[in-house]
Amino acid sequence: MPKKTVLISGVNGQLGQKVKQALKSCDNINVLGIDMDQMDIVSRRQVEAKLQEIQPDVLINCSAYTAVDNAENEKEMALKVNQKGPLVLAEKCKMFNTFLIHISTDYVFSGEGFRPYIENDPIRPVNFYGETKALGEESIQKTYENAIIIRTAWLYSEFGKNFVKTMLRLGKERKQLGVIDDQVGSPTYAGDLADAIKTITSQYVAGEDFSRGIYHFTNEGVCSWFDFALKIQQTANNRVKVNPIPTSDYPTPAKRPYYSVLDKRKIKNQFHLAIPHWEDSLAKCIDLLEE
Ligand SMILES: NC(=O)c1ccc[n+]([C@@H]2O[C@H](COP(=O)([O-])OP(=O)(O)OC[C@H]3O[C@@H](n4cnc5c(N)ncnc54)[C@H](OP(=O)(O)O)[C@@H]3O)[C@@H](O)[C@H]2O)c1
Repeated sequence: MPKKTVLISGVNGQLGQKVKQALKSCDNINVLGIDMDQMDIVSRRQVEAKLQEIQPDVLINCSAYTAVDNAENEKEMALKVNQKGPLVLAEKCKMFNTFLIHISTDYVFSGEGFRPYIENDPIRPVNFYGETKALGEESIQKTYENAIIIRTAWLYSEFGKNFVKTMLRLGKERKQLGVIDDQVGSPTYAGDLADAIKTITSQYVAGEDFSRGIYHFTNEGVCSWFDFALKIQQTANNRVKVNPIPTSDYPTPAKRPYYSVLDKRKIKNQFHLAIPHWEDSLAKCIDLLEE
């Protein structure tokens, strides 16, 4: 069977790099990665030219404007990348009959719930970044049916800037740290999300049938940022003291959800996924960082 071509946009981001690593082990897939310098996702001309040239069977969009706090002041830029970008990708994927996998966020929800959010719970974004991501989801859903959107949360990996890397650095620099204990969610190791994306991509290229639309993916388990920080320091054998603090002691320009647990039953059932617990994946990531 001829190899299928998969194009990853935003390949230099923390998720993009893990998706590229994961797909490289697929014999029947030719993986190509691209970033902003070669294809700005908001440019119809650039996206069309790249899809024309590469003719991918699948496009995995890991590109986004991800600076949550800056988005409150850079509204135009955040909206352009997170709303127009997905719209352009959906339009052009439709033109070339390319299956589109797009990534979204738990910040589309209000964070005021008391049970894990399911995919069709009403959305009410908690901040401007969440609003732009919700508009991106809507743009794809209105434009192109052959697409799936995976909402994730609290993403980290060995690459880029993220909470785990910041905590590891602070754990070595400081004697004490205050970390928020009244916001709960589920950490997500980008390597595990990349494995899920690999499973979905492999099933698509094998011609298997599955529902399009929205899915939720995080690691298993629920914790607060304080629990997460404590586990990071314990796993790395750092002696720093981690103290719990309320959200009111750590004001940020963008509001954060208090409760942002996502229900993952749909993705687990549809793609027969076994998702690791966040503590196991954290240990794996810290091992890789310490190598
Ligand atoms: N990080 C989290 O905690 C989190 C949580 C939930 C959901 N998500 C979602 O998960 C996805 C991946 O996030 P991530 O943390 O891997 O992001 P990331 O590390 O910030 O990577 C984003 C990538 O997108 C590229 N990019 C930005 N604007 C672009 C444009 N106009 N055209 C093409 N590429 C562009 C960036 O390039 P430059 O570096 O050159 O700008 C970067 O390579 C995003 O959709 C994000 O919204 C993230």
